[in-house]
Amino acid sequence: MSNSGILHCQQLGMTYTEGPNDVEVLSEINLQIEKGERIAIVGASGSGKSTLLHLLGGLDLPTAGSVWVDGQELSRMSDSKRGLIRNQYLGFVYQFHHLLPEFTAIENVAMPLLIRGEDTRIAKQKASDLLAEIGLGHRLEHRPIELSGGERQRAAIARALVSEPNVVLADEPTGNLDVNTAQSVFDMMMELNQRIGTALVMVTHDNTLASKMDKRYHLEQGTLSEVS
Ligand SMILES: Nc1ncnc2c1ncn2[C@@H]1O[C@H](COP(=O)(O)OP(=O)(O)OP(=O)(O)O)[C@@H](O)[C@H]1O
Ligand SMILES: [Mg+2]
Repeated sequence: MSNSGILHCQQLGMTYTEGPNDVEVLSEINLQIEKGERIAIVGASGSGKSTLLHLLGGLDLPTAGSVWVDGQELSRMSDSKRGLIRNQYLGFVYQFHHLLPEFTAIENVAMPLLIRGEDTRIAKQKASDLLAEIGLGHRLEHRPIELSGGERQRAAIARALVSEPNVVLADEPTGNLDVNTAQSVFDMMMELNQRIGTALVMVTHDNTLASKMDKRYHLEQGTLSEVS
């Protein structure tokens, strides 16, 4: 399915059932992401941006339609296979950092490589290099609770990038950072994009950052439309 991009979805829909009420958050979303493409998703709070990213990353399953990663349909595989696909192809930066509290920064960042079966020493070296690059070289042994909010977010970004995935799905990755740190984190994602062709799908409220991406989509009333 090389003509369908590295990640794509068709007629994707998500309806949450809350007691007697069905809340349709996404409906009939079609999106195709090519290798190395950079996409921004913007939209009001509650419009479904996080929901869409979770579906694209296989963290949740849709109530309608399908998502394919490199031609493989996420809803049609076992949970363990979906986990493998996520580890192999995708990096995820959550809106809230989701680091594992009992592990240090370096252990959190090395984790995707260890899951992949990489040698511990090499995994830790790569994690430490990336953390240094992102300004956390002096915080390697800190646990998440011992990091500031911005430091946690940077560690979470390093964790998503360390395995050099085909696609990084980032949910407001720079939302809680000061202007300078936000810029350096954004530059780092762009550098990876250019160096190894990682596609980026980034939810952002920052129009300046959005304007630097190849395409911008607006999510409103459950549907996605491209904006120029
Ligand atoms: N697990 C859930 N069960 C029921 N409703 C949910 C659930 N998760 C999200 N929603 C609802 O779906 C809608 C979209 O939520 P989502 O988190 O995707 O929005 P968002 O665009 O990411 O917003 P924000 O910019 O505030 O992060 C919201 O109205 C929310 O209340
Ligand atoms: Mg959100």
